[in-house]
Amino acid sequence: MKSIESGSYSIHFNEQCYVKLNSFLEHSNFSKIFILVDTNTHDNCLPEFLSNISYSSEFEIIEMEAGELHKTLETCTQVWHALSELGADRKSLLINLGGGVVTDLGGFVASAFKRGIRFINVPTSLLAMVDASVGGKTGVDLGSLKNQVGVINFSEMVLIDTSFLKTLSKAEMRSGMAEMLKHGLIKDANYWSRLCDLTKLNSEDLDGLIHESVIIKNEVVKRDPNEQGERKQLNFGHTLGHAIESYCLENEKKTTLLHGEAIAAGMILEAYLSTKTCGLSNSELSEIKKTFKDTYGSVEFNEKDKSSIIELLKYDKKNSHGLVKYALLEKIGVSKVDVVVTDTMVHEAFSYYAS
Ligand code: GLY
Repeated sequence: MKSIESGSYSIHFNEQCYVKLNSFLEHSNFSKIFILVDTNTHDNCLPEFLSNISYSSEFEIIEMEAGELHKTLETCTQVWHALSELGADRKSLLINLGGGVVTDLGGFVASAFKRGIRFINVPTSLLAMVDASVGGKTGVDLGSLKNQVGVINFSEMVLIDTSFLKTLSKAEMRSGMAEMLKHGLIKDANYWSRLCDLTKLNSEDLDGLIHESVIIKNEVVKRDPNEQGERKQLNFGHTLGHAIESYCLENEKKTTLLHGEAIAAGMILEAYLSTKTCGLSNSELSEIKKTFKDTYGSVEFNEKDKSSIIELLKYDKKNSHGLVKYALLEKIGVSKVDVVVTDTMVHEAFSYYAS
């Protein structure tokens, strides 16, 4: 698959990853190279990754706990201490080998350590391949509130080796697929239609679809890297989706949802809001609801859940001047940003979701 250029860095795929990485390491003069892994990627991905590296230097491995619960400043502090104790300096390189938690947190750790060291993202989950590792967003959660602390800072390169997907569970694959479906919904109706027929996909199709998703995201990021306008479209489904994800994370009675599972619910809810405010047709709304419900099932929300989720909306990063700003759909493939809706509409959206 063809590499994708993204301004200051490139995104490489499969065998090209290691050709480019080995050449980059050979021609750079890093004082030390660190690899950040979590407990899963340490066992499932690190041996294969290292076996593809021909550059003859030692790598220091830093391991963090796996999972969203560990995407915290405390974990950053542990990684910063490890870097310091292992002798990292400003000429060191950090390679983030993992899913979205590792690439987001590792990118932030690198961006702040000694005011910034260089880093490379090697995403190992579908979600990180098509979204988290691309586009320079780095950061951590604040309590259960998602991605509240972070910076936009671009990696040296992103290396997408789809063979890592072999180690993923079905649930993790579905979670990543939600972001791919989102790319179709906001930018490309044809891509959305092809993805909807998920049952007919084979692994060769998947590689091509991942490539297309990265192109869609990358084009948006190139035009608006600092999310002043168009990039907000990538947040379709995420205003309510993040609030749902945070609520389930902090509430012991709720099952914790994977990011894509929460976003799938968020996309149905926000598609409903799109019909009320942006002219999305009822037939496209039904198509969106059916697609997500068929693949992701339904999450149950009681009255208290809904009120708490609506309360959490005030922490959304896109808000300004006390207003919650949504990215919604005018039709499949066309989105609109900075839309304000009423609480009544959000309550109606939950009723539509449950129906
Ligand atoms: N995940 C949305 C963005 O990178 O803008």
